[in-house]
Amino acid sequence: MSLLDLALPLFRCVDAERAHLGAIRALRLAAPFLRSAADDPILAQTLWGRAFPNPLGIAAGFDKHAEVPDALLALGFGFAEIGSVTPRPQPGNSRPRVFRLDADRAVINRYGFNSEGIPAVAARLARRQRRGVLGVNLGKNKETADAADDYVAGVKALAGFADYVVVNVSSPNTPGLRALQDRAALDGLVARVQAAMPAGAPPPLLVKIAPDLTAEDLADVADVALARGLAGVIVSNTTLARPESLQSAARSETGGLSGAPLMGPSTEMLRRMRRLTAGKLVLIGVGGVSSGTDAYAKIRAGASLVQLYTALAFEGPGLIGRIKRDLVAALRRDGFKSVTDAVGVEA
Ligand SMILES: Cc1cc2nc3c(=O)[nH]c(=O)nc-3n(C[C@H](O)[C@H](O)[C@H](O)COP(=O)(O)O)c2cc1C
Repeated sequence: MSLLDLALPLFRCVDAERAHLGAIRALRLAAPFLRSAADDPILAQTLWGRAFPNPLGIAAGFDKHAEVPDALLALGFGFAEIGSVTPRPQPGNSRPRVFRLDADRAVINRYGFNSEGIPAVAARLARRQRRGVLGVNLGKNKETADAADDYVAGVKALAGFADYVVVNVSSPNTPGLRALQDRAALDGLVARVQAAMPAGAPPPLLVKIAPDLTAEDLADVADVALARGLAGVIVSNTTLARPESLQSAARSETGGLSGAPLMGPSTEMLRRMRRLTAGKLVLIGVGGVSSGTDAYAKIRAGASLVQLYTALAFEGPGLIGRIKRDLVAALRRDGFKSVTDAVGVEA
């Protein structure tokens, strides 16, 4: 157990946003002292020419302003995704805007892309000495009429720092954003973003989608991703659905639901996306992962990489090591030589 694990119960006593800010501050302070043990080689993969020591990453939204990517990598994550970053700084929605649903192991958030903006994030990333794999997740300012302008600005300013870039068209808290997942809108958006990528060796481009898409929407996204040669798809963002099972009073808050109740639906959507794309794209599975069993289920459904966020808030950073340990055991038990061999076996 680390000091950060011991600090976790303190964060539980304050409201969810202050707990989050406290965790970022603690990570910033602890960063120089963090060292994670080397990962079991069974977890290692090379994707898009990048070496991932393990398939477990921190999802977007935890480190929105790129304050602690290296501390997160030092905690044991195999890759870190920062953002969503908007071109201009914006405050997001008014507080309170994050709610813990303790009995449900879930969170509802309606941050609405609070972002320090591209210049602040670019300055931070420019100071970073490149070590582990870094994803940069791009959003749009609330007031921007043509969304593509904002993603183009993001790519121009930040692609040079990124091992992969994500176009996030699935946050439920920015009006009109999710409509960008429609076939024609997505196709036009991806074309403009690709044209703005740096010449030479541009970083892989992924889109991140909502778990609330219909089967038809999902097929459209798959078609666009394949036709435009995207590097991958992240499945999924938070959901607007409110499963009957939710117990906590905060279930009726407006916003996107994440955590345990999202595990089943987001994994089924991932499985469908794997079938639709026939293993041609790298899929990142995210939504409700809180154990090695959950991570393994995402991998078997088609995820080459897995991310989490909400479970970290409930369990603390000790969870990262536990998930990796249990994943190694599951892979060995089932006779796999590498995590790659397990990807999509149950698609
Ligand atoms: C408080 C909070 C803020 C988030 N902010 C972002 C964001 O800025 N961009 C994004 O793409 N996803 C964001 N997400 C979604 C997560 O990246 C992830 O897709 C989702 O929470 C499901 O994973 P989980 O159940 O492990 O949390 C956010 C999630 C939470 C809980």
